[in-house]
Amino acid sequence: MESDIERAGRLILASKYVVGLTGAGVSVESGIRPFRGPGGLWTEYGEPPMDGYQRFLANPKEYWEERFIKRSGYRKQLYETFEVAKPNPAHYALAELEELGVLRYLITQNVDNLHRAAGSKKVAEIHGNFSKLRCIQCGSRYGREEISLETIPPHCPRCGGIIKGDGVMFGEPIPSDILRICEEETSKSDCMLLVGTSAFVYPAAGFPQEVKRRGGALIEVDPYETGLTPFCDVSLRGKAGEILPQLVDYIKAKLQPGESST
Ligand code: OAD
Repeated sequence: MESDIERAGRLILASKYVVGLTGAGVSVESGIRPFRGPGGLWTEYGEPPMDGYQRFLANPKEYWEERFIKRSGYRKQLYETFEVAKPNPAHYALAELEELGVLRYLITQNVDNLHRAAGSKKVAEIHGNFSKLRCIQCGSRYGREEISLETIPPHCPRCGGIIKGDGVMFGEPIPSDILRICEEETSKSDCMLLVGTSAFVYPAAGFPQEVKRRGGALIEVDPYETGLTPFCDVSLRGKAGEILPQLVDYIKAKLQPGESST
């Protein structure tokens, strides 16, 4: 009988435009805690206030002091882990699927930069990237070292707008450049590979629903059931770092030598 990995691999190879959607679960095996479920940060600390961005706008100086200077609580823990985390086999498997021409684009909700570190190039970081800063007025992004913190909040060298971390806060609109890419890629996709996301936070949670509504396939990789499980064609239960390399091996074995799916 066909295994779930084989079914998932067959679906992927039969699809024209596979897009990945990853969440915190893909980085758990890199030592980064998820938000929800067992071991989750919000499970331990509770969800942060939903109006984080409005609080930042009301007092950007305090935001800078708390985020980048004093740092305490879950944020301290999370940022310290980001700084040392390395990609795990799941990140490398997704980068290899891109290299093979099988995965056309990757939308990640993670800010940890690990997909890029593993070699993925076509990546949309819908919630930003912890290693960058962003101007809230013109949207320019900067490396941390490019912006002087002599006065806080720092201001944009291009337009004078206030600069914050690139990570998207609760209550903050998704930057329009990234949102456009995510929507375009979703609209082209006839198969979405969901890895390690509870699919709880919108707009990202809406992308798989959109693919399904247009008759596309959904494959999920997660040790536990998620809100999207009932809509998935195949649910691969287990750790992403163990399942995805098996999926890549199956796909590579089916592709002819030297062949990519493009
Ligand atoms: P969640 O923490 O909500 O969900 C993580 C998912 O990963 C769960 O379904 C877990 O079962 C699964 N998981 C745990 N270990 C895994 C493993 N080894 N392999 C595969 N899956 C595993 O994380 P997200 O869905 O990413 O937003 O959360 C979405 C957004 O909520 C985040 O981007 C963040 C948060 O608030 C912002 O920071 C703006």
